[in-house]
Amino acid sequence: MSSGFIIAVDGPAASGKGTVATGLGKAYGLPVLDTGLLYRAVGVLTQRAGRDLDDAAAAATTASGLSAGLLDDPAFRTRAAGEAASRVAVHPQVRQALLAFQRDFAGQPGGAVLDGRDIGTVIAPAAPAKLFVTAAAEVRAERRWKQLAGQGEPVAFEDVLADIRIRDARDSGRDSAPLARAPDAVLLDTSQMSIDEAADAARRIVEAARARWEAS
Ligand code: C5P
Repeated sequence: MSSGFIIAVDGPAASGKGTVATGLGKAYGLPVLDTGLLYRAVGVLTQRAGRDLDDAAAAATTASGLSAGLLDDPAFRTRAAGEAASRVAVHPQVRQALLAFQRDFAGQPGGAVLDGRDIGTVIAPAAPAKLFVTAAAEVRAERRWKQLAGQGEPVAFEDVLADIRIRDARDSGRDSAPLARAPDAVLLDTSQMSIDEAADAARRIVEAARARWEAS
């Protein structure tokens, strides 16, 4: 891996990690990869190919054929895509097929920001800046509920909360690269924070990490 400044942002669904990652990318002039989008694409494209999400080999074949140019589809941002992503993400073969793409992105000479579930633990364990962004399940469900309504996909709040709980349990409980805070990741609980407050808090954490990294 290169010696670029890598910022790893992990956390559960709708914790604010995507917003935090985008803000950090702008602040430091670094490219940002939303790794959840890779799993969402694999889920949706596997279904479109008429294959079962539990079919690890079929999902891994989809993952191997993925390229950056395929990631723009708005269908990957839907509620169903999040659920499909979490189901294909349990397969070690799928994770393995997406590893090189993510490590290459992280290894860009100037550095990069990646957000996901296993960036600080598996993809870039040596990243000099690691955040674990979280929030109470009810708060995350409310954010996701508003986001889905804004996308023209109105859903009952209780259903979104149930989705979040199922996804948390599946992502944290799987054997392969489960959602977990790296021991050296700084915890950022955004439950009581506005978007701007979360972005500022993340910036302070990364500033401190950058100072240590520059001094090392
Ligand atoms: O972050 P997002 O909600 O888009 O992620 C969708 C799903 O993709 C997650 O619930 C998780 O199962 C999976 N994922 C993962 N590892 C990552 C990013 C996402 O397993 N690095």
